[in-house]
Amino acid sequence: MPNEYGGTMRLFDDPVDAGSKRESLGAGAVVLRGLAIGHTERLLSAIDQVVSNAPLRHQTTPGGFRMSVAMSNCGPVGWVSDESGYRYDSNDPLSGDPWPDMPDCFSSLAQDAAVEAGFVRFEPDACLINRYEPGAKLSLHQDRDERDFGAPIVSVSLGVPATFLFGGLKRSDRQRRLPLRHGDVVVWGGPARLRYHGILPLKEDRHPALGKRRINLTFRKAR
Ligand code: SIN
Ligand code: FE2
Repeated sequence: MPNEYGGTMRLFDDPVDAGSKRESLGAGAVVLRGLAIGHTERLLSAIDQVVSNAPLRHQTTPGGFRMSVAMSNCGPVGWVSDESGYRYDSNDPLSGDPWPDMPDCFSSLAQDAAVEAGFVRFEPDACLINRYEPGAKLSLHQDRDERDFGAPIVSVSLGVPATFLFGGLKRSDRQRRLPLRHGDVVVWGGPARLRYHGILPLKEDRHPALGKRRINLTFRKAR
């Protein structure tokens, strides 16, 4: 059965006991390899539900460019971009309605990941859903549209692998390149909260559940 992402939804489950491995990216930043494995079937059906109410769309940057990544949101606030700037909004500008609720399986995974990374009491109020098709990328940026930088960022990768760029606090700092695969979770906060990051153009590949696509869930405390 074709799903929202053009892939074929197979009713398979990932091995729940696939061990998760941590890779430090310096103070306050870690990759939790495979942490979401075992939750992915539930996450994918929850994503289908959210995007059937708040469709993925290509937003426009303040500079007037169409973003190659298609986005949607769930939770109390969602990240939006248009000619007037970047901001968090409690309503989907496409429908004027509030963003869909954040599914419980999203918030519990985000909280567990934050704890694993050493950040207790993470209560995300925003989950950005990013969909990458081949060639889609996210240029180097900092996440700084949130009201305070006390809470970490939790980022979950699903589908086709991507190359994550993880730099320093200055745009010109050297960047590490890390592959992010289905089920990997990256957390950065504290001294790493404002580190530059991005995603290289997605390569042609195939994932059993998502076809050529990659989906990223980015959890933040925006307000
Ligand atoms: C982001 O920086 O918002 C997304 C990063 C990713 O897609 O892994
Ligand atoms: Fe980001």
